Amino acid sequence: MGIFLGAFSYPLHIYHSSALFLMNLVPNRIAYQSLFKIIFYLMRQNLLKDYLIYLESQMQEPDLSIEISGFKMGNPLMLASGILGTTIASLRKVFEAGAGAVVTKSIGYEPRAGYENPTLVEVHGGYLNAIGLSNPGIREFYNELLESKIDDLPLIVSLFGSKKSEFRYMTSLLDKLNIKAYELNLSCPHVMGFGNEVGQDPKAVRRIIESVKEETKKPVFVKLSPNVKDIVEIAKVAENSGADALTVINTIRAMSIDIETFRPILANKIGGLSGPAIKPIAVRCVYEVSKEVKIPVIGCGGIMNWQDVIEFFLAGARAVQIGTAIAYEGLSIFEKIKKGIRDYLIIKGKKSVRDIVGLSHDF
Ligand SMILES: Cc1cc2nc3c(=O)[nH]c(=O)nc-3n(C[C@H](O)[C@H](O)[C@H](O)COP(=O)(O)O)c2cc1C
Repeated sequence: MGIFLGAFSYPLHIYHSSALFLMNLVPNRIAYQSLFKIIFYLMRQNLLKDYLIYLESQMQEPDLSIEISGFKMGNPLMLASGILGTTIASLRKVFEAGAGAVVTKSIGYEPRAGYENPTLVEVHGGYLNAIGLSNPGIREFYNELLESKIDDLPLIVSLFGSKKSEFRYMTSLLDKLNIKAYELNLSCPHVMGFGNEVGQDPKAVRRIIESVKEETKKPVFVKLSPNVKDIVEIAKVAENSGADALTVINTIRAMSIDIETFRPILANKIGGLSGPAIKPIAVRCVYEVSKEVKIPVIGCGGIMNWQDVIEFFLAGARAVQIGTAIAYEGLSIFEKIKKGIRDYLIIKGKKSVRDIVGLSHDF
């Protein structure tokens, strides 16, 4: 019995592939019964277990590491901006839970209190938020970074602003510190004068990216919005202006109304929708953008499990960001997804997560 249980503690995919292999060799029922007798004999002798140990040792551990414009990550899972990203201590917790990189909440030139409550509401298929880009402002954030140990942290700082002088100032201030990359939030859907309003104007997109690139040699990622006429057009402008990678996508403009009181639920009325409801839109955007640009695309929007991550990779993403799923699943989601990707790559016979990027483009 012990042998039985020992043998069955092996990963299912080893049984699955061995069984498929054996079934091809078995011509009829008699041969099938003989084969089972042999298997039971091997199990009694503990030989099957030895064979499975041998088989597993022959399997190469798939490589989950990726590189985005010189920025190396141990695995392709990043924390999305705005979720647990307000302090370095909370970002470190996410990194220790298994994320390959962490992105801060978007930081602006001046402190902002954000909107009145309610700023966040759960809706069918995800969350609706209009936080209003609340943040301590660049100087206070800079002081926190100075006092924190960040050298070993794969830290990406998200920045928002309304004009190029603000972006230029923030980048030049932070650039002496050991942050690994910037993400420019040109896509927040619910704050006038920032984010999406800037990100749908190709001239503003160009001005901002070029001015940031003049201040830094670190990789600059640009986060795009689906709330534009043509996301591919903005993606190409960002690439031509010097962006090193594109994060696709931010939340989608949406709203919810209380049928008892007749009032919009969010204090700002309009907010951004995140979570599983937006995944197919995000996958479409990643697919369309990654077909048209050469720089890496980081997928984001509605990822809940490893299958979703694989879908983003097949659509053309080279890394992904996870946000809302943390509210449902907690931080254990990072390890669960890493295990799922690893097992998938073994079953598909792929050595690296890089080998599946954009495979859907072939059809
Ligand atoms: C509460 C909340 C706050 C957010 N704040 C920011 C932010 O400050 N900057 C930003 O670029 N994106 C922000 N986002 C958008 C997320 O980074 C992400 O693009 C979006 O939620 C889609 O991914 P998800 O479905 O995995 O959450 C926020 C999202 C949520 C839910």
